[in-house]
Amino acid sequence: MSKAYLLKGVRVLGGPAADLLLRDGIIAAVGRIGAATAKGAEVVDADGLVALPGLVDLHTHLREPGREDAETVESGSRAAALGGYTAVCAMANTSPVADTAGVVEQVFRLGREAGLVDVQPVGAVTVGLGGQRLAELGAMAESAAGVRMFSDDGHCVHDPRLMRRALEYVKAFDGVIAQHAEEPRLTQDAQMHEGVVSAELGLPGWPAVAEEAIIARDVLLAEHVGARLHVCHVSTAGSVEILRWAKRRGIRVTAEVTPHHLLLTDERARGYDPVFKVNPPLRTQSDVDALREALVDGTIDAVATDHAPHALQDKECEWAYAKPGMLGLETALSIVITTMLDSLGWDGIAERMSRAPARIAGLRSHGQAFAPSHAQVRGGASSAKGAPANLTLVDPQAKWTVDPSRLASRSRNTPYAGMELTGRVVATFLRGVPTVLDGKATR
Ligand code: DOR
Ligand code: ZN
Repeated sequence: MSKAYLLKGVRVLGGPAADLLLRDGIIAAVGRIGAATAKGAEVVDADGLVALPGLVDLHTHLREPGREDAETVESGSRAAALGGYTAVCAMANTSPVADTAGVVEQVFRLGREAGLVDVQPVGAVTVGLGGQRLAELGAMAESAAGVRMFSDDGHCVHDPRLMRRALEYVKAFDGVIAQHAEEPRLTQDAQMHEGVVSAELGLPGWPAVAEEAIIARDVLLAEHVGARLHVCHVSTAGSVEILRWAKRRGIRVTAEVTPHHLLLTDERARGYDPVFKVNPPLRTQSDVDALREALVDGTIDAVATDHAPHALQDKECEWAYAKPGMLGLETALSIVITTMLDSLGWDGIAERMSRAPARIAGLRSHGQAFAPSHAQVRGGASSAKGAPANLTLVDPQAKWTVDPSRLASRSRNTPYAGMELTGRVVATFLRGVPTVLDGKATR
């Protein structure tokens, strides 16, 4: 029998203080728990801490195989656990590309060996992310990794006929195509958002329409096929309008936004610090406002990090030569608390960072702790009982300053260096086993 934990005085989803007993991988008891029930359990003083279902990231670049100097499955898993995550979807743009059963099984196995979060591999849509031929979607789905989500992220599935066929293929097993929406003919040589700032800096622009045109096309394709589409890292106000239209029409589309697109704008490019170079690029304040509103009203379903570690030499160089991408796993929850807690509340954060992403990715044992469906069936505070013990404890008041040298990621490219954030993960439990305690990884 595995060790049990008694979390004393925890505020489930920010509610009144209660105790939680984690035993045998599930939440075994909730409420006022007596000594007899908690016999043999290690007591964790959780006074004032907020309990959330373990976070689920739909969009993580773990870089293994191929760029282990930037990140490994293990180092990225540790960063994820420290950020409050219990599951991450590992993007396919590794080297070799995760476009076969062999590679997705390798990533899946490395995740299990690290044992810090559930690593769910995302399969490539096209062979080598080349955009020419469909990859072996069926073989990846049937593999031990059980792939349900496919994406060429980093690249757009540009050919509409291939996109249609991919949607048709995954419909058979209720899979989903996650699109990196970028019309490549409109973003050639692009370095940042196309607008006032790019004009002033003289940098080639990445226009909003390059994202919006692909989303518009793809929601129509998804409607035509009747398959599920997921839109990665939505970044513009216009994209939000299209998604709102598509959802009203009943099209099966979901969408994610990154923490950095909820907080930062293209003004950051003025210092030419490549840490702010990312794809899609940081947009304008009115885009940020529209994204926040869309996350609140449900037009955007989830927050996903797009955690994109890069080695020093790929980031500490001239802007034009730097690779796009920024770290996200260890700061995402704090950024969302800082920017969105007032409008979303704790339950809203749980929905957008755990339940919705778990549903989209088809990860059934995640996003279950404290789920409203449990509440209806079982009533009130005991609602969490019986759910898999995947959860995270947050100190909602803790303030901390981001120090890149203290992150668990192998890379240092955080855009929040030196920034003071509010809210910090204190503990994370994966199937009742702590992966983080007292703010430190347990392995
Ligand atoms: O900024 C980005 N970095 N956007 C992507 O689409 C890919 C990612 C990466 O792999 O570095
Ligand atoms: Zn992308």
